[in-house]
Amino acid sequence: MSDQTAETLANLLKEDRRFEPPAELAEAANVTADAYAAAAEDREGFWAAAAERLSWDTTWDQVLDWSNAPFAKWYVGGRLNAAYNCVDRHVEAGRGDKVAIHWVGEPEGDTRDITYAQLKDEVSQAANALTALGVRAGDRVAIYLPMIPEAVVTMLACARIGAPHTVVFGGFSADALASRLDDCQAKVVVTADGGYRRGTASALKPAVDEARTKTDVVEKVLVVRRTGQDLGENGWDDAVDVWWHDAVDSASTEHTPEAFDAEHPLYVMYTSGTTGKPKGILHTTGGYLVGSSYTHWAVFDLKPETDVYWCTADIGWVTGHSYIVYGPLANGVTQVLYEGTPDSPEPGRWWKIIADYGVTIFYTAPTAIRSFMKQGHEVPDRFDMSSLRILGSVGEPINPEAYVWYRHVIGGDRTPVVDTWWQTETGAIMISPLPGVTAGKPGSAMTAIPGIEADVVDDEGNSVPNGSGGYLVVTSPWPSMLRTIWGDDQRYVDTYWSRFKAQGYYFAGDGAKKDDDGDIWVLGRVDDVMNVSGHRLSTTEIESALVSHPKVAESAVVGATDPDTGQAVVAYVILRDGAVGDGDLDDRAIVRELSDHVRKEIGPIAKPRQIMIVPELPKTRSGKIMRRLLRDVAEGRVVGDTTTLADSSIMDLISAGQATST
Ligand code: WTA
Repeated sequence: MSDQTAETLANLLKEDRRFEPPAELAEAANVTADAYAAAAEDREGFWAAAAERLSWDTTWDQVLDWSNAPFAKWYVGGRLNAAYNCVDRHVEAGRGDKVAIHWVGEPEGDTRDITYAQLKDEVSQAANALTALGVRAGDRVAIYLPMIPEAVVTMLACARIGAPHTVVFGGFSADALASRLDDCQAKVVVTADGGYRRGTASALKPAVDEARTKTDVVEKVLVVRRTGQDLGENGWDDAVDVWWHDAVDSASTEHTPEAFDAEHPLYVMYTSGTTGKPKGILHTTGGYLVGSSYTHWAVFDLKPETDVYWCTADIGWVTGHSYIVYGPLANGVTQVLYEGTPDSPEPGRWWKIIADYGVTIFYTAPTAIRSFMKQGHEVPDRFDMSSLRILGSVGEPINPEAYVWYRHVIGGDRTPVVDTWWQTETGAIMISPLPGVTAGKPGSAMTAIPGIEADVVDDEGNSVPNGSGGYLVVTSPWPSMLRTIWGDDQRYVDTYWSRFKAQGYYFAGDGAKKDDDGDIWVLGRVDDVMNVSGHRLSTTEIESALVSHPKVAESAVVGATDPDTGQAVVAYVILRDGAVGDGDLDDRAIVRELSDHVRKEIGPIAKPRQIMIVPELPKTRSGKIMRRLLRDVAEGRVVGDTTTLADSSIMDLISAGQATST
């Protein structure tokens, strides 16, 4: 643990504010305190009961088959269709006229309300259209779309025909898209001409065109007309490109969903790991849908009849998968889906949406909360947000100040805040307060929810005593767990199950601490993964991007603490001989060039906050880069112990040369 983490932690643990559940909420809560003990006593029985939330074509014979650990099978023998569960069954139960999605486009007034009956028609049409394009069960379909209803429709259409989707966040570049298309061999890409960001139309289709020059796996590209922008001179290929309005709008609204095995692949979601190559996290159908729908109902105390739910995540991340698409729709709730940025065209945009639609449950990330804190409470104070009853946080540790501000300014001190810890790999929320049960502590994710068993352990895998820190682990399998890394079973075993092999624990890659009451405080990654604004980025991936530039000889990337984004990317670069002339100006031009290069290789989200050109990197005698020292420089601290460096004068050079940066 770095000195700074230890200091933050010491401050955190001094936090002694407690927020009891509101009495009314506790009385009517979906889940009560006894659920923990009941689930601990019969975990499989607990998950069998949770699976009753879904409609199964064939019931399972066995809840869990762990005989081939760590390869799990949940609900063995069960068959179901995920899209049927998210859409059709609500229509069949007479709730077809209920609004599924209040869609809010970024341009003001550009809205659409979609009922469950309409959603069923659109998903059926898209399923028919994808089938007509040659997609069959088991084929992969990539989705590269803005936050428009077609994104939800396409995901469900894929689920309906058993074609695993892989959604690629619109902020990823053509290169990043190409490597994902290639890795999962996506046959079809669904995209749009563009989307709106801060009032301007920003293009998407050209990135797909460019990606197709790097991989030849794609057979068809289905294009939604969203902005109407010009596609450019060579922006349309008749042999490959198909307009959504031609293929989908004319397709039949009749489509019979087929039941798939509970372990049929539902989707692949790429996430950064500790190597340069992103991992394709595979989720399957039955367990994932049980996990996402149960947790959405339990953790947000969901009352599907009356709640209006809003999760601000992008569909390109796992939060959008579990808590915009699968969890909420399986639960038949009404939700808001918003296309744009939080403060466009005005700083109160989000709060206006909450007031306009009477949002009752709101789920967002600490980075967003911190940026609103900076604007002051005057902006949210202008809006009536008295409809809110529960607030959620996800993606990164929430600092107590942000938690208290969120509860006070946004939630009017009525609303419990659920700080939910989970990962792309876990598929669903694992550690979180329950709003009707837990007395929340600002900054703590508290305890594993019923049915989940987690712990904090030392290097040897022993549970640490209260008051100590260590590694966060999950000690028994859970329904929505990842099943493998797409195409790489060995990497799955190595990454998650080899660290604590003897105990059979899942290694999450996060550090955590148990406080004196045994409650869990998640501290952040212990591996080479950074968390920037709640987005996972790999240091190695950015280093590879930098060294792929002809002027770069070597690079080291660290995640430096940042008051706004949690962590920020800071890169140290050694240039090749002759890459630059003398003087500042040349250095600055190179820094700009390298920054653009990272943007091109990975995407705008990976752009370093700072690039420093250095003569050497601090290495141990065995050649290992000492990132701890680089983090000290990046965070403006006195550089720590340098005695293990092969050449201890290097840190003086690096600290002195800080001027050359973006
Ligand atoms: C971090 C997002 C502290 C953590 C759902 C984890 C958190 C990574 C929290 C997963 C939280 C997520 N408190 N840290 N409540 N939630 N994290 O895969 O480091 O994008 O390993 O999934 O985010 O990020 P991912």
